[in-house]
Amino acid sequence: MNKRTIEWKNGKVRTIDQTKLPHEQVILEITSCREMAEAIKTMKIRGAPLLGAAAAYALALKAYHSKAKTKEQLLKELEECAETIRKTRPTAVNLFWAIDQILEKISNVKETNLNDIVRLVVEEANRIADDDVEANRKIGEYGASLIRDGDVILTHCNAGALATVGYGTALGVIRAAWEQGKKIRVIATETRPKLQGARLTTYELMEEGIPVTLITDNMVGYIMYRKLVNKIVVGADRIVSDAVINKIGTYTIAVLAKEHKIPFYVAAPTSTFDLKHSSKEVTIEERKPDEVTCVFGKPIAPKGVKVLNPAFDITPLEYVDAIICEKGIFKPRDLKNLG
Ligand code: MRU
Repeated sequence: MNKRTIEWKNGKVRTIDQTKLPHEQVILEITSCREMAEAIKTMKIRGAPLLGAAAAYALALKAYHSKAKTKEQLLKELEECAETIRKTRPTAVNLFWAIDQILEKISNVKETNLNDIVRLVVEEANRIADDDVEANRKIGEYGASLIRDGDVILTHCNAGALATVGYGTALGVIRAAWEQGKKIRVIATETRPKLQGARLTTYELMEEGIPVTLITDNMVGYIMYRKLVNKIVVGADRIVSDAVINKIGTYTIAVLAKEHKIPFYVAAPTSTFDLKHSSKEVTIEERKPDEVTCVFGKPIAPKGVKVLNPAFDITPLEYVDAIICEKGIFKPRDLKNLG
């Protein structure tokens, strides 16, 4: 998948509706900050690095279509859009990081010509998107050095091209190893309740001819017990000073991996790092109960049953063997040296 997951085109943002995959390829054309917020909330757009680019493009749309007459008015509109986007999903730090990058750039600029400011916002959003693809390629290059011929790699959720602007993080590592000619196989967990593994990871890997086997989330222990997997690579939504926060189910996999002495790697760009905060300070998104009680709109549990639906979990760093980012491969204890 060499095409970008998200693109700016003449005042519109084009992206793929991920809720329709793998059976339908529906391209969304987003024209406003409000539409972008809706696409993020409903998970048409998802995956931490892609959320960063989407947040940046929401500000670009706001600026591009603004009728503001003064710089102050424009900045106020951008701040309002930023607030709308900040309220969409709380966990992936990339979304907040991208907004801060753009607002900081604009607040530091001396420019008073509104067209120039608008151009700057759009350029900055495009730069964030470009940088993500570049970071993922580097993550792939570094990460592939950990992968050997014959490896069977387990991945969770979707940390592929679809979750990023292009190439992917955990799937970037797998993709790069495959491009180097390594004979590998992948085991993908289905990732209840939103099924990103079943719908998106298998789709991406099959498109490239990378051998992939789908399992349900509760098969992970058995797969490890039977030594059917020898490496694990996952992405991240936020890496804090004491933990990796990623899709619900990641912690279970990491604990099992330690028990079975299987290396557990996390691949993520530095835009996912939030090392000034600890896991206690992060809001774990709690999504609607019907994602658990229904499958594709069909109820599977008694009406009114109580439900828990946290979208992410917290894996303490002691379970992580290495973190692969665009700057190299790091032991978790060395992360602080990255600044
Ligand atoms: O709820 P989602 O689908 O946005 O969650 C995605 C994940 O948890 C991914 O593993 C993570 O964002 C890494 S994506 C490169």
